[in-house]
Amino acid sequence: MTVLAVSNLAKRYRRGGKPFAAVDEVSFEIGPAETLALAGPSGSGKSTIAKLVLRLIEPDAGRIDFEGGDFLALSGGSLRARRARLQMVFQDPLAAFNPRATVARVLDDPLRIHAIASRAERPLRIAALLERVGLETNLATRAIHEISGGQRQRVAIARAIATRPSLIVLDEAVSALDVSVRGQILELLLDLQRQERIAYLFISHDLGVIRAIAHRVVILDAGKIAESGDARTVIANPQSAVGKALVAATPKLVRTSQEAS
Ligand SMILES: Nc1ncnc2c1ncn2[C@@H]1O[C@H](COP(=O)(O)OP(=O)(O)O)[C@@H](O)[C@H]1O
Ligand SMILES: [Mg+2]
Repeated sequence: MTVLAVSNLAKRYRRGGKPFAAVDEVSFEIGPAETLALAGPSGSGKSTIAKLVLRLIEPDAGRIDFEGGDFLALSGGSLRARRARLQMVFQDPLAAFNPRATVARVLDDPLRIHAIASRAERPLRIAALLERVGLETNLATRAIHEISGGQRQRVAIARAIATRPSLIVLDEAVSALDVSVRGQILELLLDLQRQERIAYLFISHDLGVIRAIAHRVVILDAGKIAESGDARTVIANPQSAVGKALVAATPKLVRTSQEAS
């Protein structure tokens, strides 16, 4: 059983008038409650793959199967319904949400739009979501711009789980957080995955973070898959030039892997 299967995905853009492949023949699968990481240097196509999977942009070629059906064939009401099962968390929740909106409003939207709870039930659902992500329920009345970056990312995660998704796409979701907050958010993600069996497509340029959270990793180089496999195995012994360069650029990783062995 797979939650997401991407095959031979391709997306071309133009650079200086010349077409180039931002994503080139990319294939991978993610199973239930599994975390697949996409790693690679800046510009390697990670965010383009995220946008393709979320159907924020359309591919030039390839196939995306989500929950066993052809996701690219969906439109209208059937696309909206299926989209509830596929959520996202981006690097900067200040950009993703109206900064003046209250936390309650941000969490109310998916409950209302996807008709998950009645108007009378929604405040209780919002409180439960806040508790689920480790936030005080009295945060509901605060504006997004008033709370800390870590709190905002917890709200983004609460919003993502509100519709009971089978997959969450996280694009550099912990990259802007300082180290201690990052660790707490990774713990929360691991806990949610264990409890709710959510799969993650976890995008990061940071192999240390990937080693902490991902089961498998795909390393991209200029839109193509350079290598893929078990996350710890690949990170301990990268085979591709780009994989070796990423490991070499993560000095802390070398130290921790020596400590562990
Ligand atoms: N809308 C766009 N128009 C033209 N080129 C783009 C667009 N979006 C991304 N690119 C280019 O596609 C490549 C991959 O970008 P991206 O997926 O954002 O990489 P990453 O997330 O790995 O840093 C880069 O060369 C980037 O400049
Ligand atoms: Mg990116």
